[in-house]
Amino acid sequence: MNKDIKTVEDVRNIAREKLKGICGVYKECDGDPNRLCQGQSYGRALGIGGIGSGTSFNNNFLALRKYNLKMKLINEDFSPDTRYNFFGKELPMPIMAASVAGVNSFGGENVISEEDFCRSVVLGCRNAGTIGWRGDTYTYSLENSYGLNAIAEAGGWGVKIVKPRDQSTIMKFFNKAEEVRCVAVGIDVDGCGSYAMATHNKPVYKKSIEDLKELVSSTNLPVVIKGIMSVEDAFAAKDAGAAAIVISNHGGRVLDHTPGTAEILPSIVEELKGKIKIIVDGGIRTGYDVLKMLALGAESVLIGRDIIRASVGAGIKGVQIHMEYMQKTLAKAMRMTNCKSLQEITSDILV
Ligand SMILES: Cc1cc2nc3c(=O)[nH]c(=O)nc-3n(C[C@H](O)[C@H](O)[C@H](O)COP(=O)(O)O)c2cc1C
Repeated sequence: MNKDIKTVEDVRNIAREKLKGICGVYKECDGDPNRLCQGQSYGRALGIGGIGSGTSFNNNFLALRKYNLKMKLINEDFSPDTRYNFFGKELPMPIMAASVAGVNSFGGENVISEEDFCRSVVLGCRNAGTIGWRGDTYTYSLENSYGLNAIAEAGGWGVKIVKPRDQSTIMKFFNKAEEVRCVAVGIDVDGCGSYAMATHNKPVYKKSIEDLKELVSSTNLPVVIKGIMSVEDAFAAKDAGAAAIVISNHGGRVLDHTPGTAEILPSIVEELKGKIKIIVDGGIRTGYDVLKMLALGAESVLIGRDIIRASVGAGIKGVQIHMEYMQKTLAKAMRMTNCKSLQEITSDILV
């Protein structure tokens, strides 16, 4: 790997070249209708954009933009402590890579192989001290699960999210995840709206509380339910025994016209803070965005599209550079808003 690649900008410049025609690697990744990735869903594959009009994708970005940070500077100086404990693992930041799968959405083998993509996310995150989550798509099977292979290579340092396939297949994936000693497993319940699975004849289902209970009791690992966008679903996930929820609209890829995740987060926090781990994703691009989500009550966050670009740009190193940048910008934001540790972050810092 080229030694001259040092900054996020270096990585993104390479990604911009490699993703020509797919993603503009713009200064703002906002799901605006005029972006290269948008509108493909009116006939072509979804690509890296949002579904339909792109409103859900755009709403994630806009919801975060509604908040600003309150500077509080007249007090003692300090270096913020950004450390976060995730299911017993000490991470340097409350920021992990989202479960993204399917390089065919961003150029496929011409750009990066599924294997290299998974390895770069999992190993790049590990090099930065944090955790890469891995997803699931129509090209994955029990025999060929690229995400779990990468997590196995990292000694289990990863989280595996399985699409809401039939119960027996999910349980087999969970079983394999236990074998490789994953940190946690889960399903993206919003994956029942997956465009990719539907167009490749891979059935995915809505899941009942009983289904979720069965999945939770089938494994010793903590179970994460991803794709929660209502208080009702958050309670259902908790009642099913999930250890964590991810408030997510899948980056705006499964249902047009959903609100931004930052709009939904406070209502779920109000009901369930302290009763279940609350994680959020969607439109988070810098540590400043991370701080806003933490101030709204999330415990940690996931990064989707920016990690795709980091991985395409410079593989393992690109992902590491990106995660270290996220930690640095979070630390800067915490110092300027007078938050010494994650526990000190409250909604008081939002204006
Ligand atoms: C190309 C692409 C593929 C994705 N594949 C999955 C997947 O396999 N499983 C999953 O849980 N989420 C998947 N997601 C959603 C992400 O995990 C995450 O929720 C979303 O990207 C966060 O929004 P952001 O991209 O604005 O950061 C995918 C997202 C993209 C853009």
